[in-house]
Amino acid sequence: MNIVLLGAPGAGKGTQAEKLVDVHDIAHISTGNILRAAVKAETPLGLEAKSYMDAGELVPDSVVIGLVKERLEEEDTEKGFILDGFPRTATQAVALASELDKLGRGIDFAIAVKVSHDVIVERLSSRRLCRACGYIGNALDKNCPICGDVMYQRDDDTPETIRNRLEVYEKSTAPLIDYYRGADLLVEVDGEKDPDEVFIQIQKMLAH
Ligand code: AP5
Repeated sequence: MNIVLLGAPGAGKGTQAEKLVDVHDIAHISTGNILRAAVKAETPLGLEAKSYMDAGELVPDSVVIGLVKERLEEEDTEKGFILDGFPRTATQAVALASELDKLGRGIDFAIAVKVSHDVIVERLSSRRLCRACGYIGNALDKNCPICGDVMYQRDDDTPETIRNRLEVYEKSTAPLIDYYRGADLLVEVDGEKDPDEVFIQIQKMLAH
């Protein structure tokens, strides 16, 4: 099964992607995670991406498309994949379709996780992540409930950057919902429910 996860920053894409990966045993391709790892390792890619990410702007299409193409050529994606945070622009969506065509694959579902902006600002302001295992939690988690390591706050989870990320999302990424609706691939879920309930909605949609 090949899935695209759409939704505003903080809609819960990463949270749902982890659940889907566990149940369906498919590859999780998060462009945000790949870019953050590059920033941490101070690779040339990371050095280029950092200023865009810190400002809540999109990293240039040419950079991100190249990353995803390379990742899709890795063997573990043959059993299926979830694209989390990609595509984010019309150019990325067209490049993805053409790359998958070339590989003889296609998208089975584009899942849009819908959450209001007020809820998003609240969630992102309190989000905390585990440095060791990547667990996504919130400010109530002093240490990671999974592995006990230290939790940290992302550099782009500041009020000003969150506001810009939401603006960029509405302008560049939200139109992709209509693109996938037009291709008859879209399923929409209410992302304001409890994470397990959101997952149940997704599983029901995928079973149809
Ligand atoms: P990226 O890492 O993709 O960030 P994002 O899209 O802004 O999404 P987030 O990771 O912030 O949120 P999420 O939807 O995964 O929510 P989560 O599950 O964590 O991108 C970061 C940056 O990288 C971009 O700004 C850009 O610069 C660059 N980039 C990445 N991809 C790119 C691309 N394709 N092109 C160009 N640039 C790109 O949940 C959030 C919080 O809410 C957590 O605390 C979680 O515990 C909580 N939560 C989740 N679900 C629920 C629920 N149902 N109820 C209550 N709380 C919940």
